[in-house]
Amino acid sequence: MGKVTISTLDKMKANGEKFVCITAYDATFARIISDVGAETILVGDSLGMVLQGHDSTIPVTMEHMAYHTECVCRAAPDSLVIADMPFMSYTSPKQTMKNATELMQAGAQMVKMEGGTWLSDSISMLVERGIPVCAHLGLTPQSVNQFGGFKVQGRTPKEAKSILADAVEIQDAGASLLVLECIPAELATDISSKLDIPVIGIGAGAGTDAQVLVMHDLLGLSEHTARFVENFMAGQTTIQGALGAFVKAVKSGEYPRDEHTYN
Ligand code: KIV
Repeated sequence: MGKVTISTLDKMKANGEKFVCITAYDATFARIISDVGAETILVGDSLGMVLQGHDSTIPVTMEHMAYHTECVCRAAPDSLVIADMPFMSYTSPKQTMKNATELMQAGAQMVKMEGGTWLSDSISMLVERGIPVCAHLGLTPQSVNQFGGFKVQGRTPKEAKSILADAVEIQDAGASLLVLECIPAELATDISSKLDIPVIGIGAGAGTDAQVLVMHDLLGLSEHTARFVENFMAGQTTIQGALGAFVKAVKSGEYPRDEHTYN
């Protein structure tokens, strides 16, 4: 595949070629995910739920994120690795810079932060100093208590307008990528077509430039899953086969289908 960079993803968007992101938290799965051709790996703070057994991502710390980022980066030299900034690790410019630096020094090529307009200054600050940023809008899991649960966002015209405005502002601030989680497909498609930067969807329909799933979900290992999750182990005999099937389904446009989509 060769080393994937931001330019690779920009070119894929320009050519209308879908790319794939899968979460990983350790070296073995990172190597397999890279081998099956996923362009990007997310060291997600979802590790708080799928590895640590918490019911949200809120207990995840910088120490956890740096440790798992190092494990992943040792094994996936060709994939672009994005590391999540955990809950309350980016509240002030000084803290944001220190923590983003730690994740980059652990081997990540980009950091991800949940939020919109209020993050603009932090995004500009990091980007100006050479740290690429992926923003995350829609259902931002670190705000689960504010939302009153893991609920679809952007269903009212007011919410949809605000998510679109946030997306434009974070692009203007210099973000390189955007994750849209659990929003109506029509809104995600509209945002993806209006932005120049690649948009990665999860529960956001088929109109985004890429798809991401939590690895444990797509392997059918999670106890509860949302409607956008498909068990790619079905019909496969190996984990490599299932992860490869996800990559193929995203690239061919077979996943996600209408049944995975919110209106
Ligand atoms: O933490 C994570 O795995 C994520 C994805 C769900 C996008 O943020």
